[in-house]
Order: sequence, then C-alpha cells, then structure tokens
Amino acid sequence: MNFQLSPSDLLAPSKAVRSDVLLVLLRDGYEVLPERMAGLPGTIARAMQCGHWSPAAGKRLSLYLPDDAFASRVILLGIGQGKQQDIREALSKAVKELVSEDVRLAVYFAQDATIDQVRTAMLAVGGAGYVYSNTKPSAKGGLKKVVIGAPNANDCRTGFEEGRALLAGMGLAREWANRPANHATPTLLGKVAEEIARSGNEGHGDARFKCELLDEAKVRKLGMGAFLAVAKGSSEPLRFIVLQYHGADRKQAPLAFVGKGITFDSGGISIKPGAGMDEMKFDMSGAASVLGLFEALRHLRPAINVVGLIPACENMPSGEATKPGDVITSMSGQTIEVLNTDAEGRLILCDALTYAERFKPLAVVDIATLTGNCVMALGNLRSGLFSQHDELARAIEQAADESADLCWRMPMDDAYGKGLKSNFADMANIAGRTAGAISAAKFLERYTSAYPWAHLDIAGTAWDEGAAKGATGRPVPLLVRLVLNLAKTPVQFALPAPEGGKATARDTGKTGKPAARKPAAAKGKGAAAGKRG
Ligand code: BES
Ligand code: MN
Ligand code: ZN
Repeated sequence: MNFQLSPSDLLAPSKAVRSDVLLVLLRDGYEVLPERMAGLPGTIARAMQCGHWSPAAGKRLSLYLPDDAFASRVILLGIGQGKQQDIREALSKAVKELVSEDVRLAVYFAQDATIDQVRTAMLAVGGAGYVYSNTKPSAKGGLKKVVIGAPNANDCRTGFEEGRALLAGMGLAREWANRPANHATPTLLGKVAEEIARSGNEGHGDARFKCELLDEAKVRKLGMGAFLAVAKGSSEPLRFIVLQYHGADRKQAPLAFVGKGITFDSGGISIKPGAGMDEMKFDMSGAASVLGLFEALRHLRPAINVVGLIPACENMPSGEATKPGDVITSMSGQTIEVLNTDAEGRLILCDALTYAERFKPLAVVDIATLTGNCVMALGNLRSGLFSQHDELARAIEQAADESADLCWRMPMDDAYGKGLKSNFADMANIAGRTAGAISAAKFLERYTSAYPWAHLDIAGTAWDEGAAKGATGRPVPLLVRLVLNLAKTPVQFALPAPEGGKATARDTGKTGKPAARKPAAAKGKGAAAGKRG
C-alpha cells in the first residue's frame, strides 16, 4: 500500500492527488465561512443546514460532484469529537465497504488534525484495506494508493511516518501469520528475517541490521534440549532466528524480544481435537510480531538497540516425537518432565530466554500465543501481561494504552507455580487445571533470573475467528510504541534481586516477594549453566 501525505484545501483540489473516492473527515464544529461557500465546502454546509447530515461519529453521506473535484465520488464521514476510537471505527467500516472495488482512495481531514489523528486514520485505512491473497489469487481489491490530507499536513509528518512504519510492520505480521503452515515454514520465516535485515541496510552505510539463522546442528551444540524436543516430531527443519538492530552505541544494552514461532501446533502426541485445529497455523503470531517490529524499525530507525529472537518449528506427532513423561534438559541445565506435549510453547521459549542472556539485555519481553486459558480470561480485547517487574510492566501498560493495543496485568504470586512440581525432573511443563495462563508464565519465569522480564500472552488477540478469520497484526503497535518510548526516554530497569538478596522497593512485586528468583537447578546442579560460562 502506497501512502502519500498532502496539504489540502477542499476548495482547490490538486489534480495530482485525484482519486476515485474521497472520504472527508469532519469533526463537530465544522463551519464554512460565507465567502467559501463554493464547491465542496458549500455542499457540506448545505447538507448540515438542511439537517440531512451531521458530523456525529460514523455518520456518512455519499455525494457525486462535477469532475473538477478531488474525486467523482465523495463521502462525508463524521468523526464526532475526533477521538481516536471514533476515527478508527468510522474509517474501518467505511473502508471495508470500499476495498473490494479496487479504488484509489483519498482521506482528508477538513479541519486541522493532530499527529495522533493522522496516525490513527492511517492505521484504520491500512488495516481495513488489507486483503489476503497469497494463496487465494481470486481475492479482489486491496488498497494500492491512499492519499492522506489535512490543512496542516506539514505539522503531522511524524504521525504520517509512524503510521506508515506501523502499517508496514503490522502488514508483514498479518501476512505471515495468515499464510498456512505449508507456506510459512520455519525456513521461510528465516528468509523473511534475512530479507528485513538486508533491506534495512540497503542504501545505508552503517549496517544497523544483522540476521543470523541457526539450524538444528547449531541449536544442538548450544544445548537447546527443550526446543529440540518439540521440533523433533516434525520432518520440517527448525530455525532459530537472531535479529539485531543497532540504532545506538553498540555498548548500550539492547531491548530483547522473543517470539513464539510454532508454525503449526497439532499438540504433538497429546494431539488436539480436530475442530478448529487449522487455527494453530497462527501459533507463530508472536514470531510474526517480532518480525513486524523489525520491519517497522527498518522504517523508523530509532536511537536504541533491539534484539529479536525467534525459535521456529512445528509441533507434530510422529515416531520420533517427544512422549508424555519424557524428561528433557533445557539449555539452562534445568530438566523438564513433558507431561503434555501440547504445552510446547514454553519449551521452545525457555531455551530462547536462556539464549537472550548473552546480550546482557536491558529487559526481555516474550510474545506468545501461549494458552487457551488466557483467551478464557481476557477474550480478544486485551493481551495478558505477566511480569514481576513493576517498572517494566508500567512501561508496557503505557505503550499499550498509547497505541490502543491493550493488555492487562495478571498476578504472578509464587503459589501459582506450585503445580509445576515433578517427581522426575526439576519441573513439569504443566500445572493443574486452573489458572493455566499464570502457571505457564511461572514456568517461563524460571528461565529469566538474569534480566528484567515480561511475558505477553497474545492467544486471544493475535487473530480473529469466524467469518473474519485472520491475523490482527497485534501486538506490533504495542511493541513499536514501547521501543520508541524507550528510545526517547532511556530507562535503566533495576535488575531482579540476586538469589537470597533483598529486593529493592521498586522491584518488589505485589506479594512482597523478590521480583524473580534463581531457578532451583541454577543453585548447585549448574552443569549446563557452567558450560555456558
Ligand atoms: N498454542 C496453544 C495455545 C492456544 C490455544 C492459543 C488455543 C490460542 C487458542 C498452546 O500451545 C497450547 O496448546 N496450550 C495448551 C496448554 C495446556 C496443554 C497446559 C492449552 O492452552 O490448552
Ligand atoms: Mn500447544
Ligand atoms: Zn502452541
């Protein structure tokens, strides 16, 4: 989708931005000066005077004007007081009705717009204008060219640039999450990452982007026994993707993002029921959001260092697959009894979380379609946020609110992790029947003692079901906002309290317990921990 920004005057449309359809966004209080009653402004004034139309949010009026205007078809669209939610809803609905027609669209604010309003309008238009066609050549439409206009367009350029970067990132995340598992293999995801890094460096002399792809042999050498235990049931080769972006001094600690990249989750030997199993092609949405973040970074190039880690593989049953009861050794040295092979996300993530230590990160955020239980708890409105680090959690909540990509902080009391006890390993990979989203987070927590950490469970928010089945591109807006906020105002997150040490007031969770604890195995058994050095 190609976006263009244009300063507009509804009285003097420029031939250069002529489109098929012009959507005119009007806020409450729109007034037309008597000396400007010609053309479109006069038509708008008459429609309001006759009481046929008002700029109430979502209210529409279709007009057909002589061909000297911006477009032969004009739609007045009310946005009420201009609140972001009103703009989003009004535009999404209007654009969804237009996309099938393959139109050139122009969207003009009749009054001065804010940076936030321009960004919001672009996300709504671009989001609604996306049509999946990779494996459906018959799919029609999709917006190709969109002109965004406002009288004060030149003051809104940052909103426009951010909108464009976000749309590129969300578009990439949606596209790859939507592609079926046989068209979005770990190998292909690796190629996408390479391509992002390559094009991110193109035309720039500073080589800010770097991509490394680890294959099975390298993953084995690293001792990622948990990741391997999931991947080995499938004949599709695994990939461990390492993306790096250096926008600041290379000595500065990076923010690290870890995305769950299960390209298909059949459940493995603990196989899932057939109904709806196709949706488990979306189980790499966390990975897609990390790729989407890097795609946005390619456009925005902020002054911060970022690492993206993606363990990618399929979870399949076979003669080679991990069996319930098998005990595996993670890269951290901690052993895991796999009581349910369908709790595979935490197994690939735990090794990626251990791998993240080598970057000495400022903080690590993992993003995963981790539990059906999180969908039960929060539905498709808010992603689940799990962290014992108050300052990091607040930064994420703020980014979520600012980007309207909402999340909700869940409790992390240590008692929720009790059920992970195993008689045959340091921990089991599942706990009891209740609070499954939290016990999953408690499992991951045992691999994160080296840095401030947060976990986003996006099982409910990454895709829509039913007739509108498809990836949403979430939580790319949240992640991009978080990175931009931290680039603008650098924060030194306090480290988790050392083992046995007293936590500072700041990193004490609501329970009054230390923010994170050293995992049991890291205390004495540390064979593999020692190996890692
Ligand atoms: N990928 C699923 C989680 C999921 C399920 C996301 C449904 C979205 C919709 C995950 O790997 C899984 O299977 N989790 C199990 C965990 C259980 C075995 C402890 C679940 O949620 O049922
Ligand atoms: Mn599963
Ligand atoms: Zn899964």
